[in-house]
Amino acid sequence: MANDIIFSPFKLNSFTLKNRIGVAPMTRMSSPGDSIPRKDVLDFLVRRAGNGAAIVYTEAIVTDYESAQGYPGQARLITRRQIEAWKPIVEAIRQEGAVSIMQMFHCGRMAWPQINPANRVIAASAISPKQKNPLTGEPYPVPDEMSIFDIEHVITGFVETARGAIAAGFDGIEVHGAHGYLINNFLSSYSNRRNDEYGGSVENRYRFAHEIIQAVRQVVPPDRLLTFRISNWGVADMEVSLFEDKPEWQQMLSKEPIDAISVSTYDYSAKAFGTDQTMARITRDATDLPLMICGQIYDRATAEDALKDADIILSAKSILLNPNWVDDIRRSKELPLHKSEDANVAYTDEPLP
Ligand SMILES: Cc1cc2nc3c(=O)[nH]c(=O)nc-3n(C[C@H](O)[C@H](O)[C@H](O)COP(=O)(O)O)c2cc1C
Repeated sequence: MANDIIFSPFKLNSFTLKNRIGVAPMTRMSSPGDSIPRKDVLDFLVRRAGNGAAIVYTEAIVTDYESAQGYPGQARLITRRQIEAWKPIVEAIRQEGAVSIMQMFHCGRMAWPQINPANRVIAASAISPKQKNPLTGEPYPVPDEMSIFDIEHVITGFVETARGAIAAGFDGIEVHGAHGYLINNFLSSYSNRRNDEYGGSVENRYRFAHEIIQAVRQVVPPDRLLTFRISNWGVADMEVSLFEDKPEWQQMLSKEPIDAISVSTYDYSAKAFGTDQTMARITRDATDLPLMICGQIYDRATAEDALKDADIILSAKSILLNPNWVDDIRRSKELPLHKSEDANVAYTDEPLP
């Protein structure tokens, strides 16, 4: 197809992506004990590269052994054994012609103490989400307001995890600043009521994100990718917008040494809370950085439409559930829009095709 935007190349730092499609980060909860994902979960990433995705994101990898974990069975990438486990996967993704990016996060107030080795829950302020933890049915505990020591300790976890990913050979690193997890706890005045230099003004609330990006970039070579993910919604208290009237985070991110912003939405075409524009459009107008978008992009028409305001589309549910999704898009096949419940298969033991 002439001028097929979806299958046209795109230059991202030193990489030339073969098309505009990526596998979105997806937590799989398959790593009990050793924090290394189950083999079929790792192989899934390679298979999606084999089907033609140009970018493959890992699940959100937790950044420390103290308070970062939000779900049972999450992965880490800090120890020699963990690094060795990822090496062949990263290499296989490269052999398939795709770029691999490790996403990392600290879940902040979304943690539950039972699953963190040090039993701690920390956040910008001592405010828990209103909603109960859907996995335990219990209220989330009130987090400890982070001390300056905690802030420095958490930043070290991000840096060490990035070092682990670079040692494993990853082409890029993503800092997860979305969905109401720790970085989002600082950015949003809904969850950040601090009175020090990390709270109050937009600049102060942004400081934690800035310090993480700056510290992580020191260990990510200039020719590898560093991306940052944002959203205007969180996995708890979803009715609250975490995006405050002006695109200030996007403007501040534009000044950072990052290679792209990834915008996570539930529906790429939906208007952002309280605005008459989509998150992609708002972000496009606020920054010259390359942009990734996801949320209910499920067929050729939605992919082409989403690419009007972004450079790369990411798919979670469609690419999870359909091993031939990239090929099906190429052939303009009629495809279903999946519901969130359909994706629960991500957490079962059954290997996905
Ligand atoms: C099973 C599953 C796990 C997810 N885990 C993560 C994650 O670890 N990190 C993240 O940033 N987003 C995660 N998401 C959100 C997706 O990356 C994406 O933003 C969202 O599902 C919307 O895209 P979709 O409509 O293509 O599914 C997850 C989504 C699903 C379905």
